[in-house]
Amino acid sequence: MNDVSTQHNMNASSESPSHDNQPGSLQEPRRIISPRVISISSGKGGVGKTFMSVHLAAHAAKSGQRVLLIDADLGLANVDVMLGIQSESTMRNLLTGSAPLRDLIVHCPQGFDVLPGGSGLYELTNLNVSEQQTILDSLREAGEHYDLILIDTAAGIGDNVLYFASAAESALVVLTPDPTSLTDAYALIKVLSQQRGVRRFMVLINQTDEIDGHITFKRLLSVTDRYLDVYLDYVGHVPQHPSARKAIQQQRLLNDNDPALRPHLDRLFDHILNRPRDASRSGGLQFFWEHTLSAGLDDDDQDASNVPVGQGGSMQTTQRLSS
Ligand SMILES: Nc1ncnc2c1ncn2[C@@H]1O[C@H](COP(=O)(O)OP(=O)(O)OP(=O)(O)O)[C@@H](O)[C@H]1O
Ligand SMILES: [Mg+2]
Repeated sequence: MNDVSTQHNMNASSESPSHDNQPGSLQEPRRIISPRVISISSGKGGVGKTFMSVHLAAHAAKSGQRVLLIDADLGLANVDVMLGIQSESTMRNLLTGSAPLRDLIVHCPQGFDVLPGGSGLYELTNLNVSEQQTILDSLREAGEHYDLILIDTAAGIGDNVLYFASAAESALVVLTPDPTSLTDAYALIKVLSQQRGVRRFMVLINQTDEIDGHITFKRLLSVTDRYLDVYLDYVGHVPQHPSARKAIQQQRLLNDNDPALRPHLDRLFDHILNRPRDASRSGGLQFFWEHTLSAGLDDDDQDASNVPVGQGGSMQTTQRLSS
């Protein structure tokens, strides 16, 4: 049986080399200096994805990283609402060719850039392949200006979610201890692993305390270990506190000295940003692009190569993934 500490130890394996990300180092292969791309997703909605995304973006920017936050909840975008920023153009302008990507990016006072989605735009909720390619083409170009790209997706297992989450270097899944959130997180992980070949997931339990966070993670782990061939990395919990709602209502970020949530968020975000890069999936938007294309072309092969549900005990699974 895996416990949480085992998971952490297993993750610090030699599979993912530690990268110091030094620009200009002639020894380093190009992919190591490419931006890290992290998707933030959930099965159930309203669990705190956008809240985590904007605060993670601000935290990384504060530590000197050049950050782009993409609001990929296309159709029901709300990063801009949460940050109190206004954008004239939306992703639709990009797709119709009426505005280049650089005109859509908003520079936030919090020190990072945002690519706003579009609200109320039904046609964006299911991008077709050529629209996906248009977005990725633009993002690939923009990628060289950033160290970190965060993709705040919609909830659920819709096509856009699977597309963005499977193309990122790392997938962060947010859930709460609510049983429906747990079940939906499992469904998301299952679909991403079985249909898109995503094997590693960072897991964040929001709106809970330390003990319930661990219990919830273990519950999730017990079913994924039993039925899926995936590796879960528990990055931590965030307590429930009214200051989160208050900040959102006032369309601002938490105060830097917020005593209830700040220490948790800072620790959690440092932990996430210090995770080793995944050498097999790094490559930033170049990877994003190529991976997506090949995933599209090889869909049948990918399905066939999935490890059947129920194979592999917990230790076997983690050993295989970390060796
Ligand atoms: N730790 C927390 N404590 C209290 N409230 C929180 C916490 N985290 C998030 N919230 C609140 O939960 C609500 C939903 O958060 P958020 O919009 O980030 O969720 P979401 O997962 O992005 O939702 P959606 O699926 O609709 O995109 C917000 O009002 C937010 O303030
Ligand atoms: Mg959201």
